[in-house]
Parts: sequence; C-alpha cells; structure tokens
Amino acid sequence: MWRVCIVAVLTAVAVGCGDAPPPEATNLPAGDAAAGREAFVALQCHACHDVEGESFPAPAIVPSIHLGGKRLLLPSTERLATDILLPSSHFAVGYPAQQIAESGRSRMPDYSKRLDKQTLANLAAYLRSKYQRGVPTGMK
Ligand code: HEC
Repeated sequence: MWRVCIVAVLTAVAVGCGDAPPPEATNLPAGDAAAGREAFVALQCHACHDVEGESFPAPAIVPSIHLGGKRLLLPSTERLATDILLPSSHFAVGYPAQQIAESGRSRMPDYSKRLDKQTLANLAAYLRSKYQRGVPTGMK
C-alpha cells in the first residue's frame, strides 16, 4: 500500500490515497523537539530552509523555504512528517513553482530511507513547535 501510494502520488494518479499520510508518517512515537533541532542541523536541512526564530547558517538555495511562523491552520505533526518523507505529495505555498519543483517532483531530497521513526517524530515535533496560529505575514 505504501508503494502504491508513492507511485500514485508521484504520478499524480488519484487512487484515493492522495491526502492520507503514509503509514511511515502515522503512529509516530512521541517526538523530542530538542533532539529534532539537533537532527535538523546534522542532516543539513538548513541548506535549503530557514526556520522561524532560528539563526542557522543562511540557506544556499533561492528562495529558501521558510519553516515555521503563523498559520491559520497549524500543521499537524503527521502533516509535517509527510512533508518530510514525501515532499512531492504536497508543495509549500507561496513560491514560484519552478523553484520548488522540477517536472512535478519536489526539489527536496528523498530522506525516506535515511530517517528512522524516532528521528522523523523528533524533526516533526521540532518544526511543529515553530508554528503559531495567526494570520501569515504578508497575507492581507
Ligand atoms: C536541497 C534542498 C532541501 C533540503 C536539504 C531539505 N529540503 Fe525541505 N524542502 C525543500 C523544498 C524546495 C521544499 C518546497 C517544495 C515542497 O514542498 O516539497 C521543501 C519543503 C519542506 C517542507 C514543507 C514546507 C511547507 O510549507 O509545506 C518541510 C516540512 C521540509 N521541507 C522539511 C525538511 C527537513 C526536516 C529537511 C532535513 C531532513 C529538509 N526539509 C531538507 C528543499 C529542501
């Protein structure tokens, strides 16, 4: 089912699992935000992302993809875990399409083989802690 979902998402064929988080992004253990921050740095996620309230070395890509900040709807940890595992399943909003994706695939690398469940949960907990409910900056 997991592979069916990936193929479906990658080929954008609607088979009814488009928005469902993959099993790998559900039933995660409790995440540790501090450990997630360490993993974020160790995995060099800041090469492409700047994070609300952090001063990691400046991202190398333009535009860098901002993580955290105000959202009308807070992303769930499952949503964030899915964004990390399956970046092409849903694209960040507010960026020129050609700068975040190529041929329908996210420019974010595939971390699905490199993250165990605990590390994924930690990363999601860390990022989750960076979002607050509110009107996103720049939105009128
Ligand atoms: C080579 C650049 C690059 C690296 C490294 C990278 N990302 Fe990304 N990431 C992107 C791009 C480009 C997007 C926007 C396209 C998309 O949503 O898939 C993105 C999107 C995201 C999103 C969704 C943001 C949103 O607003 O929807 C999350 C969460 C995320 N990345 C987390 C991570 C984490 C955690 C790591 C490290 C394990 C990481 N990224 C490493 C390029 C990168």
